[in-house]
Amino acid sequence: MCGIVGYIGKQQAAEIILNGLEKLEYRGYDSAGLAVFDGEKINISKSVGRLKALEELTHGGETMPGNIGIGHTRWATHGEPSETNAHPHLNSKGTIAVVHNGIIENYIKLRNKLTKKGYEFKSETDTEVIPQLIDYYYKGDPLEAISKVIHRVEGSYSLGIIFEDHPGEIFAARKSSPLIVGKNDSGSFIGSDVPALLKYTRKVYYIGEEEIVRLTPDEINFYDADGEEIEKQITEIKWDANAAEKGGYDHFMLKEIFEEPKTVRDTLNPRIRDGRVMIEELNMTDEEIRDLRKIVIVACGSAYHVGVSARYVLEGMARIPVEVDVASEFRYRNPILSKDELVIVISQSGETADTLEALRLAHSSGCKVLAIVNVVGSSIAREADSVMYTWAGPEISVATTKAYSAQLIAAYLIAIKFAYARDMISSAEMKEYIEDLKKLPDQIDLLLGGKERMQRFANRYVAARDVFYIGRGIDYAIALEGSLKLKEISYIHSEAYAAGELKHGTISLIEDGTLVVSVATQKDLYQKEISNMVEVKTRGAFVMAVTNEGNSEIEKAADYVVYIPETNKYFANSLAIIPLQLFGYYISVGRGLDVDHPRNLAKSVTVE
Ligand code: G6P
Repeated sequence: MCGIVGYIGKQQAAEIILNGLEKLEYRGYDSAGLAVFDGEKINISKSVGRLKALEELTHGGETMPGNIGIGHTRWATHGEPSETNAHPHLNSKGTIAVVHNGIIENYIKLRNKLTKKGYEFKSETDTEVIPQLIDYYYKGDPLEAISKVIHRVEGSYSLGIIFEDHPGEIFAARKSSPLIVGKNDSGSFIGSDVPALLKYTRKVYYIGEEEIVRLTPDEINFYDADGEEIEKQITEIKWDANAAEKGGYDHFMLKEIFEEPKTVRDTLNPRIRDGRVMIEELNMTDEEIRDLRKIVIVACGSAYHVGVSARYVLEGMARIPVEVDVASEFRYRNPILSKDELVIVISQSGETADTLEALRLAHSSGCKVLAIVNVVGSSIAREADSVMYTWAGPEISVATTKAYSAQLIAAYLIAIKFAYARDMISSAEMKEYIEDLKKLPDQIDLLLGGKERMQRFANRYVAARDVFYIGRGIDYAIALEGSLKLKEISYIHSEAYAAGELKHGTISLIEDGTLVVSVATQKDLYQKEISNMVEVKTRGAFVMAVTNEGNSEIEKAADYVVYIPETNKYFANSLAIIPLQLFGYYISVGRGLDVDHPRNLAKSVTVE
């Protein structure tokens, strides 16, 4: 988590940095800070709370003149959100300023050693050891000192560093935390993610593990951990510059929900050719696909929910055993993996620490890893054997919507491809699946047209205390995501249950008026789901159902029904999730909450 930005060039640094930080607030927003060199010394400004507070404090950067600076928006790990703990951090003399994203795992040991040598620490952060340790090694050559620090620190970091006695340079370094750098005619930039730089440049360099960067207004040089100069390829970012703007919507979340038809199309269309699914980036022959013994899907959060859905689709269509796990559990349970299994990791950011470690673990067991990733050039994309990009563009709202939808499409495509390669479906069946997939964007559009109705319904539940989501099969996977969408942005307690499991305890929580959202799109499980709805309704629940058009008899068991257009049973998730995303969104709006920046959360979880 945390976002970092840096600038060196002809323009005023503070304004550019504040603008970049605004685009990175999804990474953390409990405090923020700036360090700008004014020609003589490094000045620092920090504030607690959203970036707006720092903007007000510095009058949009005007009180911090200078052409070289670094900035940070924080998601606290070590030490509460406070001005003292906010970045940038300084060495004791105040001549080296550092912003950091990641965790320095051996910071206590380093801090104790430095304290014995007379260094005084002000904050509770792990980060403060960095400027102090740089100071300890610094003999006038920043590169040499940074290289020594890299060899001493354990953990993850992306760093932006300025030195008072090297006023023409910014330094940066990274390990297991994202960092990009770029240049335009006015100067050079560093940032945690593309949106921070998009306004200024589309040509960026992705920094590799344990690499160091030196930026001047006109030049960028790259070095390995030992300080040896290395060459790097420039990457052209194709994202639309407006992609990271709200574009007339009240919130990024609503904008991103409305981008779902396009996202689905963009992820789907390039992989359909002549009535067939073509996933060239898979790098697997049909024979290799046939020889697979098992698929293991690993991810976190909503991406994990995509995995739960994908299990039903892959097992159902391709008849291949699938195991799904959350990455934080997978990596510590000593999983039994073998070479004839494929590990699929799913991640919007491509930087989630647990998912990245799961990938590394799979590699060390000799498994091939396929990554479904949204952010081009991210750590997971770079380390996986093959990458299937979801072409969702930048997703800013912390609660994912369009990236989730794109991940589902990627999973369906893999399932169809595998099913065909394993002779589980004919080419005619493959064509039918493809036809159904192609209809999804228009069907999603249709559902988005019902947003006012969903808003009216949501307004009735803004004061709800508990909301339960139930479903069976794929509908259970949808329930998991619907429930997460609601709770993460509305702070209403919500749980998702496999509908048949409800009576093993949770049904005792149903009281008069408790809202139960029942997802019933799967024909073979429909009657059973209706029985579960009746069970909760007779105990006082208010039941909202999401089901397929034509299932009107559900109205006997449900108090409120949302119909989704007819699609193949395997693809129902892509449609049923839309009203549930809108429901979560409008509840949050109705409660007057900060929809795009829910408390305690961050979008890119780069710490364990
Ligand atoms: C965070 C985000 C979620 C996301 C999860 C996994 O919790 O708030 O929206 O699903 O991380 O992130 P990833 O980038 O790996 O998909």
